[in-house]
Amino acid sequence: MAIERTFSMIKPDATRRNLTGAIIKILENVGLRVIASRRILITLQEAEKFYEVHKNRSFFDYLTKFISSGPTVIQVLEAENAISINRKIMGATDPLFASSGTVRKIFGLSIGENSIHGSDSSDTAAAEIAYWFSEREIVG
Ligand code: CDP
Ligand code: MG
Repeated sequence: MAIERTFSMIKPDATRRNLTGAIIKILENVGLRVIASRRILITLQEAEKFYEVHKNRSFFDYLTKFISSGPTVIQVLEAENAISINRKIMGATDPLFASSGTVRKIFGLSIGENSIHGSDSSDTAAAEIAYWFSEREIVG
């Protein structure tokens, strides 16, 4: 498996509770390297575009309002097998069903306010990284 890059976002429920460092530590502990990072307040329009794949889902309005409700920390993570390692350490979407030791199990508040986003495939990773970062900002 070659070195991969994936996109990660620490969500507003976590930044609000001052958990940015605690979450990054968990990611680093499983070998993910932060090679780009920016704290931003995402606009509703940016959130709608970013989550466009979910636009017909019942939770779309709730999700896009939540993501734009407070600061997020967007990151590019790099490692061998980064996409699946990151999905695994994130845990299941609903913290109630997440395995112990995962970010969502430890910190998630609900299926919506689940502390972290991570790309689910190499195609989405490439698209999500390009949506938020320029090559200049990514230093591996
Ligand atoms: O984030 P993940 O890939 O695990 O889940 P998703 O199915 O791609 O959903 C994206 C995000 O929408 C989730 O992380 C939740 O924040 C939110 N969501 C929600 O608010 N209510 C649901 N029933 C499902 C997802
Ligand atoms: Mg997803």
